[in-house]
Amino acid sequence: MPSGESLLSRSLAAVWHPCTQMKHHERLPLVPIARGEGPWLFDPEGRRYLDAVSSWWVNLFGHCNPRINAALRDQLEKLEHVMLAGFTHEPAVQLSERLAALTGHALGHAFYASDGASATEIALKMSHHYWRNQGQPGKTGFLCLEGSYHGETLGALSVTDVAIFRDAYASLSRDVRTVPSPDARLAGPGETAIDVARRAAAGLERTLAENPGQIAALIVEPLIQCATGFAMHDPEYLRLARALCDRYGVHLICDEIAVGFGRTGTFFAHEQAGIRPDFLCLSKGITGGYLPLSVVLTTDTVYGAFYDDATTRGFLHSHSYTGNPLACRAALATLDIFAQDDVIVANRAKAQHFTEQLAPLANHPQVTNFRQRGMIWAFDVTDAPADFPHRFFAAGLEREILLRPIGNTIYFMPPYVLSEADSGFLAAQTLAALNATLEAAPAA
Ligand SMILES: Cc1ncc(COP(=O)(O)O)c(C=O)c1O
Repeated sequence: MPSGESLLSRSLAAVWHPCTQMKHHERLPLVPIARGEGPWLFDPEGRRYLDAVSSWWVNLFGHCNPRINAALRDQLEKLEHVMLAGFTHEPAVQLSERLAALTGHALGHAFYASDGASATEIALKMSHHYWRNQGQPGKTGFLCLEGSYHGETLGALSVTDVAIFRDAYASLSRDVRTVPSPDARLAGPGETAIDVARRAAAGLERTLAENPGQIAALIVEPLIQCATGFAMHDPEYLRLARALCDRYGVHLICDEIAVGFGRTGTFFAHEQAGIRPDFLCLSKGITGGYLPLSVVLTTDTVYGAFYDDATTRGFLHSHSYTGNPLACRAALATLDIFAQDDVIVANRAKAQHFTEQLAPLANHPQVTNFRQRGMIWAFDVTDAPADFPHRFFAAGLEREILLRPIGNTIYFMPPYVLSEADSGFLAAQTLAALNATLEAAPAA
């Protein structure tokens, strides 16, 4: 096995790493990983890191999970891939049926792709094409929330409102309207999270009323806008948004790419508002973090609007690996674990325990807005030094934890297999890393 050092220099020479200013690696660690086990990652020399961000929010049941491994081995001996246009296979069919059942059969048609951003593109295109097929081609506009993040391909970036990802490509983006954020941290004195949600919904209604017949869809990240820094909102916003979309004839797209599969404490986040979207985008945790797979689930009504003799009224979108059997099989094994281990219920006790262990952090004098929903925790650090995310990341690695703050927000999105011992270790090491970071450098 190559040493960590040689892997690093070869990687820096040959691999252009994602979401990275490569020059920063002159002073920042690039971490070589040789193997994974449960929530732990190991480098070639055997140093370990607790993966408290589930490798970009994808891993649910640990690295090298024996049950998912076994399912994939079995699938490898049967069928690795076949195109999904004109052909079908058991894993894609079964996965579609089981996902439909998880939506109470409200969203019974599954369209597959590989990454989250592709699912966003599909939902936007499908919504637009639906209205066109319905004789309303003027409905070409989309609404997104302040601070939204839906991926980084051009269409997805158009409905993304995070400056660092969007600004360099602004001239390539479509004209999309941004509506007020329901982020509970915006509550004024005496206001509750529900008040903020209602205020944001009133802003949404104004935009809908000002643009009659022009808006195809509103896209939201239900309950938690993760990439903007874990902005959490009350389910009331989703209830009101659903009602407004119905009133103004606009689709509601729920992007649960980050928050689906139990992350917010229910299987799907939108369940907490008692609503169903017209389109549900899923990815990340769908394969337990094993293989790229995304899907857009939609209704009979949407599906029916494309069902026709005319080819051009069909949804002629495709990706080569659409519905890949291995990825679908990993997703089926992931759903099996949810059912066999009663994961949603088991996670409640885990979440409560970890929240208790985080009390010293929640009460830290430089911590504000400590927040939690399901298996996601976040807090903001006040008076943080310049370059806080990089400094904290490095301080965490020195203490065997993998955490990547977004700005001054530290968050945890651990795999669901975290033991009590691991979560105690994570809480203690995070506190130590925070104190070390704050002591080492003055406030910015
Ligand atoms: C809410 C949301 N939508 C879309 C995406 C894009 O997914 P991908 O990175 O797989 O393209 C992400 C990724 O973080 C996300 O959090």
